[in-house]
Amino acid sequence: MVDLTQASALVTGGAGGFGSATARRLAQAGAKVVIADVADERGEALAKELGNGSIYMRTDIMDEASIERAVEAAVNLGPLRAAVVVHGGPRAPGSTGPARVVNRQGIRLPLAQFAHTVNVYLNSAFAVTSIAAEAMAKNEPQDSNQRGVIINTASIAGYEGQAGQAAYSAAKGGIIGMTLTIARDLAPIGIRAVSIAPGTFLTLAYSSVMTDEQAQAKWGPMVPNPHRMGDPDEYGILAAHIVANDFLNGTTIRLDGAQRF
Ligand SMILES: NC(=O)c1ccc[n+]([C@@H]2O[C@H](COP(=O)([O-])OP(=O)(O)OC[C@H]3O[C@@H](n4cnc5c(N)ncnc54)[C@H](O)[C@@H]3O)[C@@H](O)[C@H]2O)c1
Repeated sequence: MVDLTQASALVTGGAGGFGSATARRLAQAGAKVVIADVADERGEALAKELGNGSIYMRTDIMDEASIERAVEAAVNLGPLRAAVVVHGGPRAPGSTGPARVVNRQGIRLPLAQFAHTVNVYLNSAFAVTSIAAEAMAKNEPQDSNQRGVIINTASIAGYEGQAGQAAYSAAKGGIIGMTLTIARDLAPIGIRAVSIAPGTFLTLAYSSVMTDEQAQAKWGPMVPNPHRMGDPDEYGILAAHIVANDFLNGTTIRLDGAQRF
């Protein structure tokens, strides 16, 4: 098991729904967490709540140098043993809603918008993965030669995307596709790579545009069992379990209450 006591962890999007739940669980497991986000108020408040030496660090996942600074900050708190990549990102400039390949007005999706979404959800995830792995490679190994673990976030849309999600599905499918390869690449240095593919969870992505009750009424019935949206802490619990369980590697775990489209 990757022991997080005396260690640091990085959570990108750490002030968000999944991110804050994960930061809480990793802090409970003993880690000092770098909450890497662009939400200063929420991030500072969470660092204060954790109160164990965890810090908020303003980090833009679209900027490689900014990610490097966040990883460096984590290493300064202790050896980086866990990185959880669970950020959102800015909407593509000019985008107004679902991005169909050809919209109802007969206009195609500009390549720049497609590429923007892939940058936000896939390229940035690779950047965090590689920068974190470089730092973890310098750690002293723990049991079974383990130096650290990297968790990326896919989505059920990486398997079953909806209309208007070509770019998002491509990015999330990319996370699923690269997980085994990353695990193989990093195996010789004792770093595991696992991804989580969440279904529909009640995070800020929903609660910022409607009430929790409205979101549950709209999305909850699509989930067979439990018949509700996911609770972000259910993601946090799984992330903490992945960190603890050395034999989980190279796979993407669906976390979706059996939801299928
Ligand atoms: N909520 C769901 O149902 C769901 C389902 C499947 C996958 N996901 C994925 O989970 C991840 C997190 O989503 P969430 O639901 O927790 O969203 P969220 O909105 O609650 O959190 C996202 C966080 O990312 C931060 N962020 C935005 N731009 C950033 C940037 N440039 N740099 C760093 N941080 C930035 C936001 O400030 C926010 O705190 C995303 O990759 C999303 O695609 C979510």
